[in-house]
Amino acid sequence: MVKSAALSPTYAGHASFDYLHDAQNVLEHVKRRSFAALALRGGERVADVGAGTGVDAVALARLVGPTGRVYAVDNDAEFTAAYVTTGVLDAGVYPLHADAQDLPFEDEALDAVRAERLLLHVSNALSAVRQFHRVLKPGGRVVLLESDFASLSVNTSLPHVERVLRSVAVTDALRNGMAGRRLTEYLQDASFRDVSVESFAFSTRDERLARRLLVFDALERSARDAGRLTHAEVFAWREDLRARHDGGRFFASITMHMVTARR
Ligand SMILES: C[S@@+](CC[C@H](N)C(=O)[O-])C[C@H]1O[C@@H](n2cnc3c(N)ncnc32)[C@H](O)[C@@H]1O
Repeated sequence: MVKSAALSPTYAGHASFDYLHDAQNVLEHVKRRSFAALALRGGERVADVGAGTGVDAVALARLVGPTGRVYAVDNDAEFTAAYVTTGVLDAGVYPLHADAQDLPFEDEALDAVRAERLLLHVSNALSAVRQFHRVLKPGGRVVLLESDFASLSVNTSLPHVERVLRSVAVTDALRNGMAGRRLTEYLQDASFRDVSVESFAFSTRDERLARRLLVFDALERSARDAGRLTHAEVFAWREDLRARHDGGRFFASITMHMVTARR
């Protein structure tokens, strides 16, 4: 499941189970807010797009009950294949190996669409959001949840390294690192209505957690590949963060935005 990003300058969102389980725990309250915002009723049909481990789809399946239907859509076949052994299928979720930009649903097939930390990794995010609009029934709900990597903030003695990493996050390292701030624009451009926003700050004092959730490895690699940082600078930054962690002085944060709208 862990794909080497060394071959590609851009981190395309391929994730490991461990990483997603970490995220599951620390983002639990945000995820719960997104489930509530979907306002699901028994018997409804919903897709979680960029579903990862499928654990959020399992939560949605509980909300729509046995007469509803939940699709866990992901373009990583290893995730959708794993749903057989991870209990996702047993929960009544339907796995779909597909790209968000080309969803295999009929027009107006669904009552709700949810996507979390997906559009960061999609090169043409607006085309994915237009797909969400196409597959929703009139009045159907969409909930999107994304970070804005330009808001990444790390307490470090090497702020110039932090600045470069934040900069490559939105230019090279991620396909769409500023997805969070663009969500309302995507929804408007895709003709959604009743757009509302809720924002959350994610923060942690744990360097290892930050490294995983805020994809420090991918940012460092991109900065080196782009010639923006030297090996020595990356080494010094890593040492600084590790020392801060060990001394209880590490702190990092990022802003996430959740948008809700109707077709
Ligand atoms: C950071 S993970 C988030 C997973 C899940 N939404 C969660 O919150 O735990 C991003 C997921 O999006 C998937 N993904 C990336 N690009 C995609 C695309 N174009 N179409 C469908 N899935 C995609 C990845 O395979 C990965 O499972």
